[in-house]
Amino acid sequence: MPPVPRRITILDLAAAKRDRRLLTMVTAYDWSSGRLVDAAGVDCVLVGDSVAMVVAGRSSTLPATLDQMIYHGEIVARAASQALVVVDLPFPLQHLGPRTAVEACARILKETGCQAVKLEGTAGQADVIRAIVAAGIPVMGHVGLRPQAVHQLGGYRMQRDIDHLLEDARAAADAGAFAVVLECIPSAAARTITAALTVPTIGIGAGPHCDGQVLVYHDLVGLSLDRVPKFVRGYADVKTQIAEGLARWKHDVEAGTFPGPAETLP
Ligand code: KIV
Repeated sequence: MPPVPRRITILDLAAAKRDRRLLTMVTAYDWSSGRLVDAAGVDCVLVGDSVAMVVAGRSSTLPATLDQMIYHGEIVARAASQALVVVDLPFPLQHLGPRTAVEACARILKETGCQAVKLEGTAGQADVIRAIVAAGIPVMGHVGLRPQAVHQLGGYRMQRDIDHLLEDARAAADAGAFAVVLECIPSAAARTITAALTVPTIGIGAGPHCDGQVLVYHDLVGLSLDRVPKFVRGYADVKTQIAEGLARWKHDVEAGTFPGPAETLP
């Protein structure tokens, strides 16, 4: 029997940065996406609060609740046996003080079986990250375009203030975050931040100089029905295949050719 590969840990991510091995992270929200993403051998599976948009059809991530994140997180954590599973802390729990954030992250860890949480924030959330890490819960930071702050930022737009970006990323790392997501920032800023931090940066719309890359599953496999961001490269066109399959099935049923003898039980 082939040996069962062990699960990736935050120490493996630190080693990847030291060894200059580029990291991969993809979102997943359910049993099939969790199984498929994990089987692809990625380092991390992210149960993102993007679930509110790509699964529930909401216009932002703001409606995602803690109970919803726990529901999806538990499914994905069971589905993934090798990747480090990270679950998003939904808005506004990181803004309600360290105690509330620790309680929410502890629920996520206990009730999902995941290995880490991710939270969006500026340098203002450093004390919250410190408290969660002190409770033994690994934290991934998320700076730059913070979708939970979409209204404050005036839309889903590139964040260009390099001084603030560096300050936010440094604050997350200094507070104990084991990695930091850089979303929608100029490539030069991502390069500067990646060189400044000892923990890995994972980019989305942040160019090629990060220590790793993350994409939303639906965008990557071509399952998103709405416009995808410009920084996405589609690696499959699953929605077209689904539409074609459905149309063929409907045609066959209406033509009386499905079910045929092969699909008819004796
Ligand atoms: O919720 C999410 O999918 C994310 C990624 C875009 C990084 O936070």
